[in-house]
Amino acid sequence: MTHPYLNPSLDVESRVADLLGRMTLAEKIGQMTQAEKNSITPQAARGWAVGSVLSGGGGNPSPNNPKTWRAMVQAYLDAALETRLAIPLIYGVDAVHGHNNVVGATIFPHNIGLGAARDPALVERIGRATAVEVAATNVRWTFAPAVSVPQDIRWGRTYEGYGENTELVAQLGAALVRGLHGEELAQDTAVLATAKHFLADGGTKFGTSRPVDPQAMPQFGNVAPDAPDTPEHLETAIAQGVWQLDQGVADISEAELRAVHLPPYLAAMEAGALSIMVSFSSWGGLKMHAQKYLLTEVLKGELGFRGFLISDWGAIDQLDRDYIACIAQSINAGLDMIMVPYHYENFITTLTRAAENGDVSLARIDDAVRRILQVKFALGLFDRPHTDPALLGEVGSAAHRALAREAVRKSAVLLKNEGGVLPLSRSAPRLLVAGRGADDLGYQCGGWTIEWMGQPGQITNGTTILEGIRAAVAGAGQVIHAPDGDFAAGVTAGVGIVVLAEEPYAEGMGDRFDLTIPEEDVALVERVKERCQKVVVILLSGRPLIVTEPLANWDAFVAAWWPGTEGNGLSDLLFGDYPFTGKLSYTWPRSMAQIPRSALREGESLFPYGYGL
Ligand code: BGC
Ligand code: BGC
Repeated sequence: MTHPYLNPSLDVESRVADLLGRMTLAEKIGQMTQAEKNSITPQAARGWAVGSVLSGGGGNPSPNNPKTWRAMVQAYLDAALETRLAIPLIYGVDAVHGHNNVVGATIFPHNIGLGAARDPALVERIGRATAVEVAATNVRWTFAPAVSVPQDIRWGRTYEGYGENTELVAQLGAALVRGLHGEELAQDTAVLATAKHFLADGGTKFGTSRPVDPQAMPQFGNVAPDAPDTPEHLETAIAQGVWQLDQGVADISEAELRAVHLPPYLAAMEAGALSIMVSFSSWGGLKMHAQKYLLTEVLKGELGFRGFLISDWGAIDQLDRDYIACIAQSINAGLDMIMVPYHYENFITTLTRAAENGDVSLARIDDAVRRILQVKFALGLFDRPHTDPALLGEVGSAAHRALAREAVRKSAVLLKNEGGVLPLSRSAPRLLVAGRGADDLGYQCGGWTIEWMGQPGQITNGTTILEGIRAAVAGAGQVIHAPDGDFAAGVTAGVGIVVLAEEPYAEGMGDRFDLTIPEEDVALVERVKERCQKVVVILLSGRPLIVTEPLANWDAFVAAWWPGTEGNGLSDLLFGDYPFTGKLSYTWPRSMAQIPRSALREGESLFPYGYGL
């Protein structure tokens, strides 16, 4: 006889109740554990009855392709099916602009670009396409959308936010949730969305990425020795200017917290979000991971959130010197599943101890497990643990790439166009193209692409901006490319295009003291301009940079953000096949003195929020 929880014709509530009644404490704690694939084998996941595994940024199989991804994930799913109760495991990834860890996947513009496109229907379609590519690899959970409302563009996660405006973020975040989930959560192409990072990750103050209470700073004992967040590493990094805002303190009133940072979560919940990731940051003297008031009273109580809360990467380790206190504080605050990147055995045995000595109540554990199981049932994992392998044919498909190209076209913002230099004529006899971003997919994709930090070079398949330009002119005129602007003596042209690019980064590694565009970039544009009557500058970046002075010499200026793999979306605009329609989703400051946003007086920016020619 099969147990009622395995009967698909029963309702989810009865199935959860039946299953929960059969589970041991160890099995319950297993469901609350999410380990990283590099520290756990499928056999160990089975042995410890672990409920979830993730790939962190760059947590890729080798070789890295859609097929090896699918097989890697399937090994964990299959191991879970061999446990006593055969509770399916859910695998999570950061598919934050397409299935971005996977070589061959379609990479869409980062959220900052989608914010400029201002098109919820487009974001929903991107969510659907992303979900299909993610599901093709047997993954049913992504840690997206970030619904951060960044108020200080020195933050290395500025590009992960759709924009500085609460309403815009709420609208687009909800659209992505709808797209990822699709019509029906139980279909195998539905991918569970995660609104993150709760709450006010985008509201932290510069220079506050330090422990709130130095006494309560962790031993970092649960962290891998070479992790970027070990104390030694962190010290060096901070000295170099990074980790200033990320994981910092939102020093704002509760009214501001609720007005600026909370609404996108409400919108995501209305769109069906069932998983929310808690922020590394702090508010009111407490790390978010210990905020019982905000997590349990406000989110689960007042706002009625019925899904589950996932912690961020090793984030609970930052709560206290004693690991058992870290565990008790976070789970008692309302965390349901804990992301334990390294020593999951230590987590499981310590939580078991906390449960046995009453530091964490069995009722709290049951509530957490009930929430997790409800979502697993809703996703249909018990009834169909694997996705359809035929979906592999859709990874990087022509249709998805066409959608990404459309998104690139809609996200680029034309900020200057003196004398109507754009659109360019296809029949111009010669075009000069320079800049490290012109022919480099890595610079086009930015952070969170194949590797956590992103990486320059031919990191995946796609079309570079240069390739797009060459295809657009198709032999009509000559296109000469020199990344460093060192064209042969005497070579001149009517127009030169320079594609400048910020070095890719992620999280606090992208926090910066100074956003002034580098001297070398300014000089490169000047060198190209000496050979050309007009110069068009395209900037690939995760945020606005300070360009006020050099801009005077540029004839046209396009902010293209980090557009992803389909660079021909830009050539579509350069040659006028489509009009520019993008509008800034962040105010573009004139100087560093205008950052953060609160330092900027109305009307004094270089380009206001919503600007775009
Ligand atoms: C980031 C999250 C991400 C998680 C898993 C953390 O460091 O803050 O945004 O989802 O890692 O990769
Ligand atoms: C992981 C990321 C994670 C980060 C946090 C990296 O090693 O790959 O996913 O967000 O660590 O520190």
